[in-house]
Amino acid sequence: MHKKLFIPGPVEVRPDVLEKMATPMIGHRGKDASALQRRISDKLKTLFYTKEEILLSTTSGSGLMEGAVRSCTAKRAAVFSVGAFGKRWYEMAKFNNVPVDLYEVEQGYATTPEMVDEALSTGLYDLVTITHNETSAGLMNPVEEIAEVMKKYPEVVWCLDTVSSAAGTKIEVDKLGVDICITSTQKAIGLPPGMAICTFSQKAVDRAKKVPYRGLYLDLLSLYEYIQKKDYQYPSTPSLSHMFALDYQLDRILEEGLENRFQRHIDMAKIVREWAKEYFALFADERYLSNTLTNVKNTRNINVGDLNKELGARGLQIANGYGSLKDKTFRIAHMADCTIEDIKDLLNNINDILKL
Ligand SMILES: Cc1ncc(COP(=O)(O)O)c(C=O)c1O
Repeated sequence: MHKKLFIPGPVEVRPDVLEKMATPMIGHRGKDASALQRRISDKLKTLFYTKEEILLSTTSGSGLMEGAVRSCTAKRAAVFSVGAFGKRWYEMAKFNNVPVDLYEVEQGYATTPEMVDEALSTGLYDLVTITHNETSAGLMNPVEEIAEVMKKYPEVVWCLDTVSSAAGTKIEVDKLGVDICITSTQKAIGLPPGMAICTFSQKAVDRAKKVPYRGLYLDLLSLYEYIQKKDYQYPSTPSLSHMFALDYQLDRILEEGLENRFQRHIDMAKIVREWAKEYFALFADERYLSNTLTNVKNTRNINVGDLNKELGARGLQIANGYGSLKDKTFRIAHMADCTIEDIKDLLNNINDILKL
């Protein structure tokens, strides 16, 4: 039996979107491919509220995260981490021989503008990475406040990981001043995994030109220059299947209306948070809760594996805690095309199983 996914990626994908993945192939060097990729970029500019360029990559989000830190750090990177995915950005820098420092906070707490200001005031850094929505913690960092600090440091390239938030919550890239805003297809966009997306500002372009060793496949500057020269075609063969589905799904997202979509995510989040507070507790600092997933503290010491087995028999699946939080928390994703009814149905089933 298929289990409806309430895990924070991959998410449940609508059958009509899945069908688009089976569109017959076209040549990736033809006019149709250019038109497809240009259409996708235009719609993504609307989604990210940006006039800057969009890059696509046939990797998961990690590909562009690694490409960004490697391609655009000329001096030294400051990585701000609030959990597993921030830490991963630090490791990507390290393993690419990019000079880097890690600024961590205890899990469940946010990166503050003060922390960013203090680090950048040293003058050591020319690139910063921030996790917008930390999927391991269920926490959304205060990027609007961080943006105010970033304005003081115009020479610093700002990379933002919106892998688990883009298309589920409003991220106004140009207004914030984000240079490289990265996401993956398998989360709030509502597609299967396998493609990554980022915005790429002129500042990022100029910086990358000063970095001699940017790698090859994930060199963001070469992707950028290639799509300019070749009318949105990519240097390597891209996943056209994802592109067909993305083109279609972006139309659906824009038809729903961005504000409506973001509100739906807030409404779903509120229901899950209220439920979590009634029967368990919330893991993350309540001032910075994620709109796309909720990390529930397992205060009743339930066996999350057993709960998921029971849910599985009913065609549903949630996620356990991430890493060291495995049995201490469990996570319920409310993103992409998930509805209020889906969420209520899931919570009713959990109540029924746990006799809450
Ligand atoms: C916040 C965050 N950043 C980065 C990643 C890595 O993305 P991907 O698995 O698409 O490489 C994930 C994946 O879950 C994530 O949740």
